[in-house]
Amino acid sequence: MDRRDFLLQGTTAAAALALGARPPRAAAPAAPGVPADSVRAPDRLAWWRDAKFGMFIHFGLYSAPGGEWNGKATGSHEWMRHNAKIPDEAYARLADTFNPAAFDADAWVRTAKAAGQRYLVFTTKHHEGFALFDSAVSRYTAMHTPFRRDLCAELARACRKHGMKLGWYYSIMDWHHPDYLPRRDWEQRDASGADFGRYVAFMKAQLHELLTKYGDIAVLWFDGQWESTWTHAAALELEAFCRRLMPNVVINDRVDVAVPKEAPAGYRRAGDYTTPELTVPERGLPGQEWETCMTMNGNWGYAKDDQAYKPAPVLLRLLAETASKGGNLLLNVGPDGDGRFPRECTEALGQMGAWLRTNGSAIYGTRGVAFGDAPYRPGAATQPLVRATRGAQTLNLFLDAWTGGALVLPDVRQAPRAARVLGAEEVPLAWERTPEGLTITLDTRGPDTPLAVVQLQFDSALRIGG
Ligand code: GLC
Repeated sequence: MDRRDFLLQGTTAAAALALGARPPRAAAPAAPGVPADSVRAPDRLAWWRDAKFGMFIHFGLYSAPGGEWNGKATGSHEWMRHNAKIPDEAYARLADTFNPAAFDADAWVRTAKAAGQRYLVFTTKHHEGFALFDSAVSRYTAMHTPFRRDLCAELARACRKHGMKLGWYYSIMDWHHPDYLPRRDWEQRDASGADFGRYVAFMKAQLHELLTKYGDIAVLWFDGQWESTWTHAAALELEAFCRRLMPNVVINDRVDVAVPKEAPAGYRRAGDYTTPELTVPERGLPGQEWETCMTMNGNWGYAKDDQAYKPAPVLLRLLAETASKGGNLLLNVGPDGDGRFPRECTEALGQMGAWLRTNGSAIYGTRGVAFGDAPYRPGAATQPLVRATRGAQTLNLFLDAWTGGALVLPDVRQAPRAARVLGAEEVPLAWERTPEGLTITLDTRGPDTPLAVVQLQFDSALRIGG
């Protein structure tokens, strides 16, 4: 596959773009440690692969303090019990005042829907161990607080009503359950008599509840799998357990431990897809299914002191970038202690939705078109560049900046049936086939959008390169 850099030529600002074809996924060889059968399970992942954009919601006991404990900032807020070395009994007292009076599952789902998000993943139990659902095997739940409501049940109902796919985040690591091991290395909590096997049975009982009481669950998003007590064998067993209850549930890779350096032949990491965190892999992850999870500011849980929200244009570029590299974007909201989404999140999500209503055909159901760029880092300035996605007979080009002049596509030799800018007034664009490749003329006023999309349609299957 030929790679050329994006370049701007002289004053005409002609852009040349090398488009590398991505091998069809079903035929892609699985990289080491990639769950090979996920690549061969098109049915289970079909909706997920096309959905492209989901909402992550981090909510828990940590949301009310919002990162402040005894008047001091704790940093990385759903980790506050660990960061501030808060004893379990003291932290658990947060349950006595847990009362997110403004919690409105319907409003959350409507916001996700209006943002163009096609699935939602909710923290049913984060590392702190507190469950936001009614559980027969625990009293450390929202039912035993002044709130006395099953947030998962309300969310499941709202998702069903609005046709939103629902996923459960569930942390394997548990800082509260007496049988979970190991303890935090700084804590004194007695571990004598603790039995990790019993903890696994408890976890399965909770997952059984989550997979049988709330209707169709589309995704299981595990986390907290990195401590010494969790093993590959336990992961395979847990995956099988969940699939018996919900055969089509899509499961992330964090159900399993990292792939050992010298994995034996035929080793299969449990789970269906890989979860890069706060980053978009430089060249995507060819041959793997993946989803970048990303915060809208710098924290997962609600953070009073963090106003560094990414503006909608940055988030849209991030969405285009993940899609162009063949991945999904799971964008996080940390509701405050009352259960409200921060205003900045709602606004940016609304703007993303407005953009998607015009440009969604360049995102949903598309496949990535590979070419390189430096990895995205939160807060980093995004370079003006061109990224691309494709359908069977469509090529979508995302333009950060409308430079005018010519856009040259060296790897496209086919004549399009139509070339246009997506938008309220769809502007047809002139093109010609030149020795350099297909050349689109952008000599028109750029559309009024943070991220312009030029869409090319072809009469036959699109061929890139070769
Ligand atoms: C990490 C953190 C956790 C967060 C998750 C989201 O694993 O421990 O707090 O929920 O990432 O990807």
